[in-house]
Amino acid sequence: MYYTCSNTWLSRHFSDKFVKESKRFGYRSRAWFKLDEMQKANNIITSGMTVLDLGSSPGGWSQYASQKVNNLGHVISCDIKPMLEVSKVSFILGDAFKKDVLKKICKIKNKVDVILCDIAPNITGITEIDHPKCISINYKALNLCKYILLKNGKFIIKSFNGSEFKRYYTAIKKLFKKTKIFKPVASRLNSQEIYIIAIGYKV
Ligand SMILES: C[S@@+](CC[C@H](N)C(=O)[O-])C[C@H]1O[C@@H](n2cnc3c(N)ncnc32)[C@H](O)[C@@H]1O
Repeated sequence: MYYTCSNTWLSRHFSDKFVKESKRFGYRSRAWFKLDEMQKANNIITSGMTVLDLGSSPGGWSQYASQKVNNLGHVISCDIKPMLEVSKVSFILGDAFKKDVLKKICKIKNKVDVILCDIAPNITGITEIDHPKCISINYKALNLCKYILLKNGKFIIKSFNGSEFKRYYTAIKKLFKKTKIFKPVASRLNSQEIYIIAIGYKV
């Protein structure tokens, strides 16, 4: 995620309990803990699965997913920013919503069991600008499901509270058997981010 790195943000970031813990355990990001909470409550990723991690850099979720899928499964990650290698993870550098990236993903695996999307746009701090950008990304990620998500697959996506959220959530509910909204403890309280956990892709 891109942030404006003000002194306030930097000091809050480095005093953050999850930042400290991720450093201690060698996790690439504090986001690791968010996926861990979602996994523990919903058993999203299991051994042998193929997981697509969109917006993967610096790699916390990729690290997490690659452990869960084990040697039998596979993780494909993608980000517009480079990512240091994560063991057993195939990384694609590029925009997750561009055709060439989709082609590269499909070359590795035609369809996946789980799509994780933690993509965040360049945040300005102005809700009227940030919210529509986030929701637009959310729709693009949902659209990707029809090309690469297996029937009965799972879709976990970061969204943002705001005027367009309800409409987006309704769109997801139509395509999946079970959906829920999840605010991980590791997600900053003052952040508008929330996650949608959608299970059982119908198409
Ligand atoms: C919050 S970070 C992801 C953190 C990651 N889940 C982790 O565990 O380390 C959001 C990421 O989305 C990426 N991103 C933004 N737009 C993107 C796009 N169109 N395609 C791929 N990645 C994108 C950013 O470069 C950034 O690395």
